[in-house]
Amino acid sequence: MNIMERKYGQPYDRIETASVDELRALQLERLQWSLRHAYDNVPFYRRKFDEAGVHPDDLKELSDLASFPFTVKDDLRENYPFGMFAVPREKVVRVHASSGTTGRPTVVGYTQNDIETWAHLMARSIWAAGGRPGDIAHNAYGYGLFTGGLGFHYGAEKLGCTVVPVSGGMTERQVQLILDFRPDLIMVTPSYLLAIADEFERRGIDPRETSLRIGMHGAEPWTERMRAEIEERFGIDAIDFYGLSEVIGPGVSVECIETKDGLHIWEDHFYPEIIDPETGEVLPEGEMGELVFTSLTKEAFPVIRYRTRDLTRLLPGTARTMRRMEKVTGRDDDMMIIRGVNVFPSQIEEQILKDERLSPHYVLELTRDGRLDELTVHVEIKPQLADELETLAEDCARQLQHNIKNYIGVTTRVQIRPVGDIERSMGKAKRVIDRRRM
Ligand code: DLL
Repeated sequence: MNIMERKYGQPYDRIETASVDELRALQLERLQWSLRHAYDNVPFYRRKFDEAGVHPDDLKELSDLASFPFTVKDDLRENYPFGMFAVPREKVVRVHASSGTTGRPTVVGYTQNDIETWAHLMARSIWAAGGRPGDIAHNAYGYGLFTGGLGFHYGAEKLGCTVVPVSGGMTERQVQLILDFRPDLIMVTPSYLLAIADEFERRGIDPRETSLRIGMHGAEPWTERMRAEIEERFGIDAIDFYGLSEVIGPGVSVECIETKDGLHIWEDHFYPEIIDPETGEVLPEGEMGELVFTSLTKEAFPVIRYRTRDLTRLLPGTARTMRRMEKVTGRDDDMMIIRGVNVFPSQIEEQILKDERLSPHYVLELTRDGRLDELTVHVEIKPQLADELETLAEDCARQLQHNIKNYIGVTTRVQIRPVGDIERSMGKAKRVIDRRRM
């Protein structure tokens, strides 16, 4: 491929840079279809709309969506496994499911058209992130019920990449394949990429020397400081991909490589709203709140005003006409309340990565002392400083404790751990260990 074809900033589809008016008109038409489709074919939606006294015909403009009821994860659980499908089961060519840490998993389904839409949106996303036909794509997202592996796989194939479907795990083999196949792109959660980086270093290979050009990372929160750490360690562009199974999987929104200024939502297929999580009221653009999505084109599994529990804000488009969402740094249900102060794991991550001596491997442990919740931060020292752990530990701990107190306002305990002490993730990192109810 010549260098001109790699020029960034061109859209994959014309609609990405169409006028706002054209986009809104398309959304209105599709939204009317989607509400009708859900109402006519899913008993759950019919009942909910009837109870709320609304009918699909009531939607005359996009803002009328605010009068329709929300859908939450429990609604999907109650209709487990196939109760939310809007097409006969025989038309569903694939299902995925979320692991669900508590209770039943949630199941989502796709018709052949849905799979094609998804692959198309993933091809568009990979393109926006700088991937090009002919690139070799090392896909280390988990294959299976999780949407990450197959979502990236179909998208990268559709774009015309050579896909290496490695899936997650077997870190030594990941490294060997990167060395042997010389991929341009790596698709992996940020936390698992760090485990891969460690394996390179263990073998005495500088990850900056590999063929990798772009990392496509998501499925978990990661901070700007984590991006800087990854870009520096691998010498790549690290791009944020966002999505959730209920809405389609990855491919809901993505950063453009030329701007990296928030994630453009593919609004021609997913209509976003930001609500106050307490009152459910729709908030004006720019305000922070809970992200809600309505699918505009999905056949098998339409979602109407699905509450993601992800916290972010909507911003006007830049590199594309579609609105951007700010990087998601926290979920409503990840929030810890430590002595009355709300804390997200990503805020602690920011403070850890400020200290050059500390590694990005950390875990947060919640315990209860009487009636008070206590937070202990366990973080590893950098491998280069492994021999100095004893002399540095006290100062590192004191410094981190001080910064957390200063910037977040909570008192924590800090334990500096030896290299390799904290369990590595193979997919989504588990950052919080809650021992309060154990
Ligand atoms: O994680 C889909 C995905 C796969 C996205 C690969 C990106 C890359 P679920 O397993 O259903 O789907 O989990 C969805 O993960 O509601 C967020 O809380 C979180 N999440 C996903 N992407 C990001 C991101 C996939 N880029 C849940 N930043 C979502 C922060 C993210 N959180």
